[in-house]
Amino acid sequence: MTIAGKKILIAVSGGIAAYKIHFLIRYLIKKGADVQVIMTPDAEHFVTKLSLSTLSKKPVYSDFYTENGTWNSHVELALWADLMIVAPCTANTLAKMVNGICDNLVIATYMSAKCPVFIAPAMDLDMYQHPSTKKNLDLAESFGHTIIPAESGELASGLIGQGRMAEPETISTQIEAFFNENSNQSLDGKTVLITAGPTYEAIDPVRFIGNHSSGKMGFSLADEAAKRGAKVILISGPSAEKVSHQNIEIHKVVSAKEMFDKVFEFYETIDIGIASAAVADYTPKMVASEKIKKNDESFSIELIKNPDILKTMGEQKKHQFLVGFALETQNEEENALGKLHKKNLDMIVLNSLRDEGAGFKNDTNKIKIFTQTDKKEFDLKSKESVAKDILDFVENQYLK
Ligand code: PMT
Repeated sequence: MTIAGKKILIAVSGGIAAYKIHFLIRYLIKKGADVQVIMTPDAEHFVTKLSLSTLSKKPVYSDFYTENGTWNSHVELALWADLMIVAPCTANTLAKMVNGICDNLVIATYMSAKCPVFIAPAMDLDMYQHPSTKKNLDLAESFGHTIIPAESGELASGLIGQGRMAEPETISTQIEAFFNENSNQSLDGKTVLITAGPTYEAIDPVRFIGNHSSGKMGFSLADEAAKRGAKVILISGPSAEKVSHQNIEIHKVVSAKEMFDKVFEFYETIDIGIASAAVADYTPKMVASEKIKKNDESFSIELIKNPDILKTMGEQKKHQFLVGFALETQNEEENALGKLHKKNLDMIVLNSLRDEGAGFKNDTNKIKIFTQTDKKEFDLKSKESVAKDILDFVENQYLK
């Protein structure tokens, strides 16, 4: 797979690194990509439309209006692109992007884009380190955009530090890697719902009952399903993990009840459901409205059963293919098979806390997969690789 034929929209904003965009255009065109350049009005101080259009072989736009009284449709430009890269992305353009300040053609096009968005920031080192820039980059990442970090070296100001736009070759390689990674679109047209992370059950405004789930397993599954072309609905309990693909729609919840309600908002519309969340089985019967004081030597909380989300999904199953997880510490296979039957699942993924490197928090997991008729055991692997194994198995069962 190459980038030949891919439509790449380059949005140039007003920084000295804009001169490097000529090289980026050349790399992309050489590899057969179709390149369209747009620019902010300020970028025109740094590079000319003539040089950019000569290389890209297309007119370059920086304004909504043309001299003939017609207009440049930001919507058409945005929908045309298979990928949009904002490079160089100045602190100003970044701030406008994440806050929806739509005062030029680049931002209007960005806000109409449905394709993956890459950002190659470039600015002076103090601006790059500023908390507002860091926050804005985090926000952009949380929107599912890919950040190609600035590199360190001598800056236009004469200062030395991080802030130089990544080299055009690095940007072009990352774009190519993205298209390569996403070339398997085996789940295109499918909607996959994934639960992830722990649930927190409030005791009072300060305390809760929770567990050690980090969300890593569920987020890796979401990422892999999205790369395979699925529309992913990720319903996550409290987790520090971030989504990294624009096909993922994330819904954050706290308690099991909230997770239950969110799952059933979408359940009818999904094709595949994967329950990797570590849902609390019990929740306090009463939640104290004020912080509970430590007056007594002992203290009890009455717990009541939470709804079993996956079991209810199994009971209401029509066309959906359902995958459960079983986290066990003893009689692993027996318990996993019991859950496969009781919850009316198509497949269950067993991970045991007796296997080193498996289960909670780790970046790795070791799994066994069971269906009604099949069983497969896997080695200890990164959670990204485990997600690939699980989805390969799902595809073999579901798409056969
Ligand atoms: O998040 P990480 O740190 O990466 O860790 C990943 C993980 C260990 C949490 C994950 O791999 C895992 O095993 N998730 C399921 C944990 C669990 O709660 O297992 P269980 O055997 O108690 O539950 C069985 C299945 O029913 C699970 O699919 C669970 O999501 C679901 N369930 C359980 C209770 C409940 N009330 N509702 C549910 O949907």
